[in-house]
Amino acid sequence: MHEENKKKGWNGILDVVDLKKHFGEVKAVDGLTFSVKKGEIYGLLGPNGAGKTTTIKCIMGLLSLQEGSIRVLGLDPTVSPERVKGEIGYVSEEPMLYKSMTPEELFNFIASIRKLDAEGATSKAKSLVTSLDALQYYKSAIVTLSKGNKQKMQIISALIHDPPLLIMDEPLAGLDAKTSRIVKDILKIHVEEGGSILLSTHIMEQASELCDKIGIINKGKMVAEGTLNELQSYADAAGANLEDVYLKLTEQDKDVKSVVDSLRASYHASKPSELN
Ligand SMILES: Nc1ncnc2c1ncn2[C@@H]1O[C@H](COP(=O)(O)OP(=O)(O)O)[C@@H](O)[C@H]1O
Ligand SMILES: [Mg+2]
Repeated sequence: MHEENKKKGWNGILDVVDLKKHFGEVKAVDGLTFSVKKGEIYGLLGPNGAGKTTTIKCIMGLLSLQEGSIRVLGLDPTVSPERVKGEIGYVSEEPMLYKSMTPEELFNFIASIRKLDAEGATSKAKSLVTSLDALQYYKSAIVTLSKGNKQKMQIISALIHDPPLLIMDEPLAGLDAKTSRIVKDILKIHVEEGGSILLSTHIMEQASELCDKIGIINKGKMVAEGTLNELQSYADAAGANLEDVYLKLTEQDKDVKSVVDSLRASYHASKPSELN
């Protein structure tokens, strides 16, 4: 089985080959190919609407794909969806949690459906809750928690079963600076322990801080891929900084310029004339 996968180039923890997913006329994902290797944080970086969430939902089996193939540890999610889900910890864009449960009940529930050792799972959940400074919410109904605290619980839910692959869709959105720092450290520890992560973000700075490899996508297509050093050399050669390269590759540079120009114009127009 492994030899067969290698022959096909499926030798990552996650392999996505020529993935296509269209919604009517909208080509949300349009022939995307990338791999996430063991011990690596791979960043899918792209503006809103680039196709990050659609790609992730296809990997998770939440959307059917039109074309292409996906392998998680060599397994085809369309053939073995349950086994694939067992290998992944998923943090969705919008927290999908059982709102009437408390975090404690939710984590116990996850431990039981994943058939984990109850004591080990509880102690792991509790230590994560404590490190994320959320122990005071352990017995509160999830519905009463703030967005940031719900997000913390979702991240913990994804980690309880020690999955080899974490898939996180904009995991830092809505978190305060301190929590964001702790979550970043949790991600780094996960890869140091041999785990792998696919992380989506629309922020270049986050991708460059966290990711070993970055795939920049726009309109469902890969427009650049490389390590931070590789992307940086590309930017240096073009005499630009990374942020500018990202904006240009994802066709956001002209939008930024026209918004800044019109802001400048309206600022000057509203200024009292004696200050001009
Ligand atoms: N269920 C859907 N029906 C129709 N269009 C969709 C649906 N989901 C996403 N899209 C469209 O697909 C494109 C990619 O969206 P998405 O994958 O959510 O991007 P991202 O996560 O990068 O912001 C967008 O144009 C979006 O409007
Ligand atoms: Mg998204």
